[in-house]
Amino acid sequence: MSNDATAEFIRKLPKAELHLHIEGTLEPELTFELARKHGVTPKYPSVEALRAAYDFSDLQSFLDLYYAGADVLRDEDDFHALTMAYLRRAHADGVVHTEIFFDPQTHTARGIAFATVFAGIHRALRDGEREFGISWRMIPNFLRHLSADDAMRTLEELLPYKRHFAAVGLDSSERGHPPSKFTAVFARARREGLRTVAHAGEEGPPEYILEALDLLKVSRIDHGVRCEEDEALVERLVREQIPLTVCPLSNVKLCVYKRIEDHNLKRLLDRGLKVMVNSDDPSYFGGYVLDNYLAVQRGLNLSKPDVAQLARNSIEASFLDTAAKNRWLAKIEALAAQGSSD
Ligand code: ADE
Ligand code: ZN
Repeated sequence: MSNDATAEFIRKLPKAELHLHIEGTLEPELTFELARKHGVTPKYPSVEALRAAYDFSDLQSFLDLYYAGADVLRDEDDFHALTMAYLRRAHADGVVHTEIFFDPQTHTARGIAFATVFAGIHRALRDGEREFGISWRMIPNFLRHLSADDAMRTLEELLPYKRHFAAVGLDSSERGHPPSKFTAVFARARREGLRTVAHAGEEGPPEYILEALDLLKVSRIDHGVRCEEDEALVERLVREQIPLTVCPLSNVKLCVYKRIEDHNLKRLLDRGLKVMVNSDDPSYFGGYVLDNYLAVQRGLNLSKPDVAQLARNSIEASFLDTAAKNRWLAKIEALAAQGSSD
């Protein structure tokens, strides 16, 4: 089968994207447009120069640019434009359901009201659902490099909106900021009826994955690729079918793996872990979700059944209800059956 036919097969598979930071979808063209709109002098002379700066040595070197970039997001329309641009792109890639992370503290620390951030993203998600048929969930994340007190204050601020959120999450600089720092915040969120997810085992050790499971009681681990360093943990993740929201191009861009060919996704899939493919911060990492699927399909020599399993896992690991999951799973089965005959 040709490369084009494989790409078309993957594009057509209904896919859920479960690890996507909306601030990480800010394309340089929109950065410049918003900088002009708000009378901000861009730090880089051109779109090309900004894009050329996306050359990272680790997570922190990316985060420094990512937080600086978010400065042009100032009013409700900015957050709406950002989210619409992502949804349009995700639709073209065959994403049927998306669970969007956003970082309230990145904006409230700059004096942007939480209500403004929420309103722009939420309005776009509803517009996108109408225009593209993409269902969605919103998952605010706490920044782990800030204090637990700051996270708790942020949680209080977003609780009036909690019916709009499927879960709360934890992101930003992982090393030195273990999940245990946020045990009380996540306990409070759970008491309020919110589910939890957390970045763990991206740069941080497998112990952080264990803390996220045992202390934060997460439904999913974001990244989690370092689980392989602890055999008992891998066995547990398989046994309990804990989803890992893996982001292959992100891992290469942030030097977790040197090359896509070195990524452990195929090994994890073969061992029966519930892994799937996501784009994390596509503007910064050089690819949206279909680019990520294609990179691992080629780099790790994935078969069509492997790719169909990744799509199946993405739907099963989502916060969709059972009826919606079953509808998408049936479509995947139909496509996979066609795919196996050619
Ligand atoms: N915030 C945005 N992208 C992130 C990532 N890959 N890891 C941690 N925090 C993030
Ligand atoms: Zn992430």
